[in-house]
Amino acid sequence: MMIRDVTEAEIPQIAAIERECFSLPWNEHMLEIQLGENYIFIAAMDGSTVLGYVGLMYVLDEGYISNVAVLASCRKSGIADALLAELRRRSEKLMLSFMTLEVRAGNRPAIALYRKHGFREAGRRKKYYETPREDAIIMTLELGN
Ligand code: COA
Repeated sequence: MMIRDVTEAEIPQIAAIERECFSLPWNEHMLEIQLGENYIFIAAMDGSTVLGYVGLMYVLDEGYISNVAVLASCRKSGIADALLAELRRRSEKLMLSFMTLEVRAGNRPAIALYRKHGFREAGRRKKYYETPREDAIIMTLELGN
């Protein structure tokens, strides 16, 4: 497995993983925007197969994680761990002050993942998500820059 920047060639695979994982998936056009400036968009690759990916938008010294997902058949083998570790390295290089994200209140695997990587609960947005309606937990990792 190697972690590298996403290219346009991987967008259809990533859109397919989005459809598999989320009730309101990002489409190819939304994902392509993350190939532009002010985004970190990296994937864990096995040859030309995308195993997982993470996207982060940054503005000045603030980072906003937009999506994190791993192929269902490849979970629990450390892929998200590796993606978040690389995202942190890159965020440190960019001198970001913090990374933040929203996660469904009932998404226990994701909340455990973010806690493991030092993210702490910073608030809650009531009924933020649809299909199904659910609160969002805001989680933030201070980077100390
Ligand atoms: N239950 C509880 N904790 C879990 C978990 C599960 N099923 N899966 C992962 N974790 C947590 C654990 O803390 C784990 O560390 P540990 O193995 O030392 O206990 C840590 O995440 C890293 O596990 P890893 O194997 O790297 O995670 P993964 O590659 O399986 O990916 C997700 C984790 C959340 C990205 C994956 O389950 C996924 O794609 N889910 C669907 C999409 C999604 O919900 N994305 C998050 C949107 S905010």
